[in-house]
Amino acid sequence: MKLLFSLLCSFFAILLINFQVVFAQNLEIDLDEGKQLFSQNCTPCHAGGNNSVNPTQTLKLDALENNKKDTIDAIIYQVTNGQNSAGMPAFGDNFSEEQIANIAHFVLNQAKNNSW
Ligand SMILES: *[C@@H]1O[C@H](CO)[C@@H](O)[C@H](O)[C@H]1NC(C)=O
Ligand SMILES: *[C@@H]1O[C@H](CO)[C@@H](O)[C@H](O)[C@H]1NC(C)=O
Repeated sequence: MKLLFSLLCSFFAILLINFQVVFAQNLEIDLDEGKQLFSQNCTPCHAGGNNSVNPTQTLKLDALENNKKDTIDAIIYQVTNGQNSAGMPAFGDNFSEEQIANIAHFVLNQAKNNSW
């Protein structure tokens, strides 16, 4: 009986994890919102995809690649947690996960399309 119960618990735990993964992947990406949030909050340092604090660490694709920030996850992490050593503040308390995902998609999109 105990075994059955713990099997059932694992089953539901796995179900829950899968559900969250699916849910995370189904976030609606809104590039327009990303663009708007970027221009309101990131352009003080990153106008035109530049970097006014560390001129080599731009948001252009080659720089993102060199700094291993050329994935959505890496950009989400960077925006959420900031990077003290690069003088970038954390935005995790200011925006929802969805807003940060939108910013990250906007940034990577601009970089990959060379549209900064
Ligand atoms: C970004 O940097 C480039 C190269 O230094 C410069 O030509 C351009 O004017 C800058 N863009 C903005 C919006 O500051
Ligand atoms: C987040 O919001 C607070 C309160 O409005 C503000 O003081 C802070 O500068 C913001 N953080 C960033 C990284 O912009």
